[in-house]
Amino acid sequence: MGFPVIRPRRLRVSASMRELVRETTLAPSDFIYPMFFHASLTAPQAISTMPGVFQLPVSAAKDQAREIVKRGVKSVILFGLPAKKDPRGDSGCDPDGPVPRAVAEMKSAAPDLVVMTDVCVDEYTDHGHCGILTKNRAGEMVVDNDATIEVLAKMATMHARAGADVVAPSDMMDGRVGRIRRALDESGFDQTAILSYAVKYASSFYGPFREAADCAPQFGDRAGYQMDPGNAREALREAALDEAEGADMLMVKPALAYLDVIRAVKEASNLPLAAYNVSGEYSMVHAAAKAKMIDLNRAMMEVLTSIRRAGADLILSYHALEASEILNA
Ligand code: PBG
Repeated sequence: MGFPVIRPRRLRVSASMRELVRETTLAPSDFIYPMFFHASLTAPQAISTMPGVFQLPVSAAKDQAREIVKRGVKSVILFGLPAKKDPRGDSGCDPDGPVPRAVAEMKSAAPDLVVMTDVCVDEYTDHGHCGILTKNRAGEMVVDNDATIEVLAKMATMHARAGADVVAPSDMMDGRVGRIRRALDESGFDQTAILSYAVKYASSFYGPFREAADCAPQFGDRAGYQMDPGNAREALREAALDEAEGADMLMVKPALAYLDVIRAVKEASNLPLAAYNVSGEYSMVHAAAKAKMIDLNRAMMEVLTSIRRAGADLILSYHALEASEILNA
């Protein structure tokens, strides 16, 4: 008998054979497309650190919604840039702000599109932190957890009133999922779902986003509320807490440097799991492709596949539309 008897290459002989035995697939319906709406713009404005991504005027929301649905993408998540910022992020609770207005426009143009909103004050505070500031006993400025979750509950309810299907708190305050769930239910929005940014690390990979959403912290960093990159057991603790507080879906963020964490959370929870392929991951692929170091489309599809293979059911990604174009071809 010839050697070797067992030849895995038999299943790699043709494209059809490979497709037949492929374990992980991608579809446009796996993606959630993040978008930035700016209160003061009248035309789309390119984000220099994120090729192909724009800050949009609310007037573009309807056409965008139709275009996205046409590509088979079922969901978007909206971020807002207000006309004015203040220390408490009050504009984040304004029902005439860019996010609630864009939600209403998108739902009217594409009722089947699942519209999610990011719930966090960092886009609306002048200091760029994800909450209301207070002084601790040492006299340092820190984010006040319990005051912040009151604002988040108000913001989430306002988004639900505007028509959001899902609210997604990204602030990493303790107890915010439970507080938001209670606020939604008390206002009659018991059908509005919560996608919790349950496991969110203090990451360098948010760099380009901070230009996109104009929310770089003006002092210090986010390490007092976002997770330490060295911790994986803590991720399971955060995920379990948010599930117990009533989260409908969980998220791990960022994705690529945390594929092991995606796998661990997937095994620990039966909730649908999302992973955020964040701005820095997106911009690195584009920058390397532009420098002719890698092939853009192949690298993008490989990255997205890896996130699904790690265990994510859904992927928030700025690649959503360009990847869907390839998948639909
Ligand atoms: C906070 C928020 C951030 C991102 C999503 N929501 C920034 C941060 O925590 O600093 C990052 C997303 C990305 O990098 O693509 N509201």
